[in-house]
Amino acid sequence: MTKEKNEQTLVLIKPDALKNSLTGYVLSQLSEFHTGLRFAGAKIVHVSRMLAEEHYAEHRGKVFYPSLIEYIMGLLHYPDDPERRRVIALVYQGPDAVKKMREICGPTNPHVARETKPGCIRALGTVVPLKDAAGNKIGERMDNLIHASAVNDEAEREIKLWFRPGDFPPFMRSYPTEINTEDHYYFKNGKLHTKHVTDSICLIAPGDVVWKSDLDALSLLQKGAPSATSLEAVAAKYLMNYTAEK
Ligand code: GTP
Ligand code: MG
Repeated sequence: MTKEKNEQTLVLIKPDALKNSLTGYVLSQLSEFHTGLRFAGAKIVHVSRMLAEEHYAEHRGKVFYPSLIEYIMGLLHYPDDPERRRVIALVYQGPDAVKKMREICGPTNPHVARETKPGCIRALGTVVPLKDAAGNKIGERMDNLIHASAVNDEAEREIKLWFRPGDFPPFMRSYPTEINTEDHYYFKNGKLHTKHVTDSICLIAPGDVVWKSDLDALSLLQKGAPSATSLEAVAAKYLMNYTAEK
């Protein structure tokens, strides 16, 4: 099994695509017949703020960041229907998966997509002005229907953020896994515990198959050492679809 042949990428069908009933269209554009890529993983996710902030961590501090978080959480497209706030998270696998998906999606800005690449998925998106409290335009929001990982390292980070090893058929796991033989890991109010405390949630128990990088991160964090993977990035995945966040 060569890495190139089995490259993986994360795709998110965003709330605006769901709201506009474009899911079927997008999935057929991404089909194996059109892309040569196969499904490796799929789930419906009610996106928590922690997951949204981890996914778009690189944009923290930018003027469009707050609206980007609200957008991916579905707050903008379903303000009164929390039960409809969700995205479809998919992992596709095959030769040049990252590049092929980005090409089908097209440019980030839907106006640019329409001008430079008519027919791409994001050409069907929209751009919405962002205003401050006084009504002055401070920027814009790009509702572009779909996310696809931009480069291989980003794909690895994102796939491990949205999916557990057990979400994939065993031969379609692309990154090293380990069976946890050590501690229980519990999470409460942004803190990690190795013993149960009241109202804590168990993230990982002995015997669970987990990403090796998550286990390495938890073991460092538990000792108070710095880690490349944040506690929130691990917790967001294990708490996925856990509570109905409003
Ligand atoms: P994603 O697939 O969603 O990650 O988009 P991308 O990889 O094409 O772009 P990027 O990761 O740079 O940005 C993530 C999201 O932030 C985009 O989908 C846009 O919604 C938004 N965004 C990015 N850059 C800008 C910008 O310059 N202005 C505005 N208003 N929004 C932006
Ligand atoms: Mg991106």
